[in-house]
Amino acid sequence: MAQLTKIAVLTSGGDAPGMNAAIRAIVIAATHYNIEVMGFLHGYNGLIENEAVQLSLKDVNNIIHKGGTILKSARCPAMLSEKGLKQAANTLLKEQIDAFIVIGGDGSFSGLISLQQYYSGLVIGIPGTIDNDLDKTDFTIGFNTAVNTAIEAVDKIRDTANAFERVFVIELMGRQSGHITFNVGIACGAERVISFENFNPEKYEIKLKHLAQEIKMAQRDKYQSYLIILAENLWPGGALKLVKQLKEYQSIDATACILGHIQRGGSPVAKDRILATKMGIAAVQKLIEGKSNLMIGEKNGLICEVSLIDAVKHQKTVNQRLIKAQENILAFNAQHLR
Ligand code: F6P
Repeated sequence: MAQLTKIAVLTSGGDAPGMNAAIRAIVIAATHYNIEVMGFLHGYNGLIENEAVQLSLKDVNNIIHKGGTILKSARCPAMLSEKGLKQAANTLLKEQIDAFIVIGGDGSFSGLISLQQYYSGLVIGIPGTIDNDLDKTDFTIGFNTAVNTAIEAVDKIRDTANAFERVFVIELMGRQSGHITFNVGIACGAERVISFENFNPEKYEIKLKHLAQEIKMAQRDKYQSYLIILAENLWPGGALKLVKQLKEYQSIDATACILGHIQRGGSPVAKDRILATKMGIAAVQKLIEGKSNLMIGEKNGLICEVSLIDAVKHQKTVNQRLIKAQENILAFNAQHLR
């Protein structure tokens, strides 16, 4: 058991719906155990610059349903340097922080791992990223909301695509992983999903040929619309380039839609609110137990502890069964090009 007087929390990296729910749970749980909570604004930058704010129950009232983060977020290259790490640790020492919680993704956790060279208090990470790419947890906070937001948008695109009998290339977020892309593609009945897991950018010319062949066939068969769900940072030149190439190669008129940051905003869905609340409470309880250097995860509905190193060692892969279902059964080519 650790005797904790004051803990601190910050949100770092890409914000994710549900981060506020996690902050709220941390403050409520800490207050329950008579522990003071301090927040640092603007991610690790605010830790380095000591942008500290006191967090009380009043501050977290009515935030469980709000997207974004009341603590603001940022990326912080300074945490890659010894100087930045020392400055960050100094603030924690100066403010007499016994334990420190970071809500963020793998970059944020790598910062937390390095910080322990200079900070001897307890540290815990809570996975908050729409990308769902952290290993050893089934879900990260924000992923389910982002998927639902994207589904809503793609369904709307489907309506107009049907009305005009159009081809759309819809680019979704996910940085370097296809959790959002595959889940949205399947949920929206996309004719094609192109993601890191099923596409080699070096062979884009072959894929372009196949795509054009499929689209022509769909048009011949009077398909109302043809949706390609494309992961960001993948196709050379992105969705706009792919649309241009389809035009140049086979005179196919396609429209590009880059969904972008709309996927990061909005009110968190129930799954994210509940996950964030469970994780926030668990983080405080683990700290009280004296645990450190951990990420709070959830596996099969149960909260679990994951060493921070294990959480960032590998990117979590998309479920193979999901990929195979899309590729071999659901995709347009699987259904029609036999
Ligand atoms: O990591 C979350 C994320 O939204 C990724 O999906 C995306 O690639 C990236 O952040 C965008 O970062 P920024 O908002 O800094 O452009």
